Amino acid sequence: MTGYIHHEYPKTVGRKDFWKQIKRTVNGQEVSPDDIEIIIKNVSNGLMLSKSDALLDLGCGNAALASYFYKKINRYHGVDFSKYLLEIANDFFFISGVTTFQELDLSASPKSIHNLQNYNKVLMYGVASYFSKKQLCEIFETILINNENVQQIYIGNVPNINFSENFFARRNLVKNDLKNPNSSIGVWWEPSELSQILISMGYSCKIVLMPTNFYGHPYRFDILALRNE
Ligand SMILES: C[S@@+](CC[C@H](N)C(=O)[O-])C[C@H]1O[C@@H](n2cnc3c(N)ncnc32)[C@H](O)[C@@H]1O
Repeated sequence: MTGYIHHEYPKTVGRKDFWKQIKRTVNGQEVSPDDIEIIIKNVSNGLMLSKSDALLDLGCGNAALASYFYKKINRYHGVDFSKYLLEIANDFFFISGVTTFQELDLSASPKSIHNLQNYNKVLMYGVASYFSKKQLCEIFETILINNENVQQIYIGNVPNINFSENFFARRNLVKNDLKNPNSSIGVWWEPSELSQILISMGYSCKIVLMPTNFYGHPYRFDILALRNE
């Protein structure tokens, strides 16, 4: 399923339908500019983005979201396993001297991320659910442990298992596949279980619940993790 969603589905919509390509949609329609604004504000404020930052974006997709952060930071490196989405990123959201993109399956070889020691902030938005717990732990271990440079990591748009019942009932769907990273939504998480992984790696976590006017409310949550001194 994920193979199709990330590699093939984006080709079925327009090359400039950036939010549709990564399924940031409600009933097939792209989410509102207000929704995007909420995401940008939460990530920018949470990560306290500044001109000295080197941001590593795990699962950057077409980098449409990332492009809103470029002016706030010094360097940006986006990693994704979708060749097509990276092609869009390079065509529309590449800035020479600021951005670099890398094609990589993070579940297979997170250690292959270029210049891992260079980044001080990490973003993983709308991606965490597409990994099993074991894979996610491996990614965090690779990026966070023995890498004191990473001060903050923001994990966004994670499906909240506490609201899964309601989500499936409202859509008349059978509740299943809650722990399947290959399903269309991916793995649903208990917020404290996810934050516990980061706490065990030396980070303090804040769980961010989305406001009622956000398209993903109440089904999605974010986690901001800060490295302990
Ligand atoms: C919903 S999109 C989010 C894109 C971007 N972060 C954003 O928020 O706009 C999920 C992204 O995760 C990427 N992805 C999923 N599994 C991946 C993996 N194993 N390795 C690298 N990227 C992956 C997909 O290709 C897709 O671009």
